[in-house]
Amino acid sequence: MEFKHKPVMLKQCIEGLKIKPDGIYVDGTLGGAGHSIEILRKLSKSGMLIGIDRDTEAIEAAKNKLKEFSNVKYIHGNHDDIKKILKELNINKVDGILLDLGVSSYQLDEKNRGFSYLGENILDMRMDKTQKLTAKDVVNNYDENILAQIIYEYGEERFSKQIAKNICLERKEHQIETTKQLVDIIEKSIPKSKQNDGHPAKRTFQAIRIEVNNEIKPLYHTIEECIDVLAEGGRLCVITFHSLEDRAVKNAFIESKGKCTCPADLPYCVCGAKSLGKIITKKPITAENEEIKQNSRSKSAKLRIFEKAELILRH
Ligand SMILES: C[S@@+](CC[C@H](N)C(=O)[O-])C[C@H]1O[C@@H](n2cnc3c(N)ncnc32)[C@H](O)[C@@H]1O
Repeated sequence: MEFKHKPVMLKQCIEGLKIKPDGIYVDGTLGGAGHSIEILRKLSKSGMLIGIDRDTEAIEAAKNKLKEFSNVKYIHGNHDDIKKILKELNINKVDGILLDLGVSSYQLDEKNRGFSYLGENILDMRMDKTQKLTAKDVVNNYDENILAQIIYEYGEERFSKQIAKNICLERKEHQIETTKQLVDIIEKSIPKSKQNDGHPAKRTFQAIRIEVNNEIKPLYHTIEECIDVLAEGGRLCVITFHSLEDRAVKNAFIESKGKCTCPADLPYCVCGAKSLGKIITKKPITAENEEIKQNSRSKSAKLRIFEKAELILRH
């Protein structure tokens, strides 16, 4: 299947990264390389892009799309390990990092990946197929209360308790193997009169996907690590699609900005607080109406940008 994915807020991300032609940039969510190709177009031959994705199918699609560029390093890995990845490449600091979180349209649409509530497929949902935990494990083995909590928190599904209860009743009879079996349970758990907000399985599938791929818990720390590896004046751009993701990014930015109370015109800090840089986006940037019309996925996207301080004398 062709790798189809429209990059979200492309122009805003490229502007936000303030690309230096000879710089080193990391795309921590390479996907179909929709953002990466534009970063590479702004780089000179001495510049470099490091593309990380935990999905080997994305890496292959990106290699194909970027075949004209020789200054790209492809890493099959997790951007939560950014420090380790850069250390292994002998790179100390980078000039910019992009994280466009979540799944790609390709992953959602490719039926055999088990992300989609349409059709009948094996319950999988792993972005990284070398990982052990699958959606089938979550659905068949997790405790009922924990399942309910995941579906509520990550899916914002108000019928989470009923869905978790029915999953547990069903699995007493037989294993839940396919996406269709799970969809049937979800449909049974939500009153018909309340099934008017998109597909009834949408929110539960999102929640299980987030759990399988551990998308929220490490994020705050990952943002801190990204800021840590930024060179002076380097920028971090993060696109989120979920309120919990956005909260983690926002809080990590606020913490990194610190609470320095020195006047802005002082070249270094005398108040004793520590600031690693500044938040460029006081409010997150959202997609323009035209983009939302052409790509409904961009509707919930929020872009936040952080800039590492030029001179970290503020401590
Ligand atoms: C929204 S897509 C990125 C699309 C890309 N920006 C483009 O325009 O083509 C997210 C990608 O990041 C990958 N991904 C998600 N979480 C990841 C993580 N923690 N580490 C590495 N890759 C991750 C997914 O496998 C997916 O390919």
